[in-house]
Amino acid sequence: MRRKVTKAVFPVAGLGTRFLPATKSIPKEIMTLVDRPLIQYAIDEARAAGIKEFIFVTSRGKSALEDYFDHAPELETALLNKGKLEMLEELRDTNMDSGAIAYIRQHKALGLGHAVWCARRLIGNEPFAVILPDDVIAAEKPCLQQMVEAYQETGGNMVAAMEVLPEKASAYGVLDVSEDMGSLVRVKGMVEKPKAEDAPSNLAVIGRYILTPKVLNTLNKMKSGAGGEIQLTDAIAGEIGGEDGVFGLRFRGQRFDCGSKAGFLQATVAFGLSRPDLRDEFSAYLNELVSSQKAAQ
Ligand code: G1P
Repeated sequence: MRRKVTKAVFPVAGLGTRFLPATKSIPKEIMTLVDRPLIQYAIDEARAAGIKEFIFVTSRGKSALEDYFDHAPELETALLNKGKLEMLEELRDTNMDSGAIAYIRQHKALGLGHAVWCARRLIGNEPFAVILPDDVIAAEKPCLQQMVEAYQETGGNMVAAMEVLPEKASAYGVLDVSEDMGSLVRVKGMVEKPKAEDAPSNLAVIGRYILTPKVLNTLNKMKSGAGGEIQLTDAIAGEIGGEDGVFGLRFRGQRFDCGSKAGFLQATVAFGLSRPDLRDEFSAYLNELVSSQKAAQ
């Protein structure tokens, strides 16, 4: 039996410049898909995978995130008094156990690898997960849970993987596969944001990782890579050929790139349509919109 993965790191220090001016005063991770902030989707996924300790790597201007995870006794009492019990239940579901959350500041934006390294003392000497909240994944079985299950078989390091259009590969970490076992692949190389002609495949890394603490030792060396940043991809690649190895899991589910405006809008539509309380009204509106646009053409 492998050691359980109970800690997850959430790198949330980014400035969110793509969503300015909204992100002038609210962290990107608090922006809502329907009625839940992005970060809530990441937390729910982590909880479903058995994560018990949540480590946020933050930066200046992110205090709204800390408030979001605090209990809200006034709100709870108000809902109780009004008999809004369903809403109360929903609110309580977002409460986190005391001591389950830790916040660490990344003082300089030196890259994703550096952000994870900032959490090293809280991670300690055990396998851990990393979740990038920008990547929202709708799946019957949450993506990280799929990975934890696969990790029980493989051990080592594991990244979520997804085929992308070849012309899009240079926006991702890209895997070079040595053995394709169907949903699982064994990795023999990883390149962060390769030029189109250098991409070893179109199998891209999506923002879910299960990593061994050895990756943190590599990050200690602080070598910068693509874009002059300290890349997590490079540190993971350092484990290829080592005793633990690196695997990719083609997860089952739909991934939305909520770090981009188009991706965020797509996620909003998809999540809106998947909600029983909104589906009918929202799909009627969308149908009407599409027909009127067609008619105008
Ligand atoms: C990060 C990682 C990259 C990965 C991507 C997935 O890049 O560095 O390897 O493919 O997330 O979303 P970013 O999108 O933060 O530039």
